[in-house]
Amino acid sequence: MKQERYLTFALTKGRLADKTLGLLEQIGINCEEMHDKNTRKLIFVNEELKLKFFLSKGPDVPTYVEYGAADIGVVGKDTIMEEGRRAFEVLDLGFGKCRMCICGPASARQLLEHHEMIRVASKYPRIAKDYFYNQKFQTVDIIKLNGSVELGPIVGLADVIVDIVETGSTLRENGLEVLEEICPLSARMIVNQVSMRMENERIRKMIGELKELVK
Ligand code: PRP
Repeated sequence: MKQERYLTFALTKGRLADKTLGLLEQIGINCEEMHDKNTRKLIFVNEELKLKFFLSKGPDVPTYVEYGAADIGVVGKDTIMEEGRRAFEVLDLGFGKCRMCICGPASARQLLEHHEMIRVASKYPRIAKDYFYNQKFQTVDIIKLNGSVELGPIVGLADVIVDIVETGSTLRENGLEVLEEICPLSARMIVNQVSMRMENERIRKMIGELKELVK
């Protein structure tokens, strides 16, 4: 059946996009144009299936989806939590698995136990704030960093960090450890709330097929 309206996907640039495209291909959704690694094109179209794809930085994916510039997004749960945008989270894709944790030197364990007023460095200030204030009822000073957050406790900027741990090797190599686990993370599919109503059949069919693959 000919589809009239384009369905637009916003994918997180990098490994998540590669894995997502691999998964979509298995349910017959593909986009030849995207395989050209040298292209500077930003948006890719599959005319036959009436699909569009674009790549963006993770934190922008929920923004595109909330405003309806993309109907569907694929992004890490960490980013979804941090951005706090309106969208339906419809599927755990099962890859990009890691954990959001409080990490630091072993000596910081007692600062957490005694609910001390500590300094917390993170790329995820919203997640850090929510966890300390609303779940641990501990008042802390949160310092936003943009990367290599593990440096925080090493150079004396912060007592602990709130960060993603995947293999744990960054922590190990820097004399830090997981002090508390906040939550598990993985890649999720999100859908614009209006698109979900307007394109319900098409989107539900795709989600159903993906569910079978990732279960
Ligand atoms: C992430 C995260 C940790 C690291 C964890 O950083 O912030 O630093 O990966 O992975 P591991 O447990 O397997 O060592 P990323 O490489 O995305 O870059 P960033 O430090 O600039 O945020």
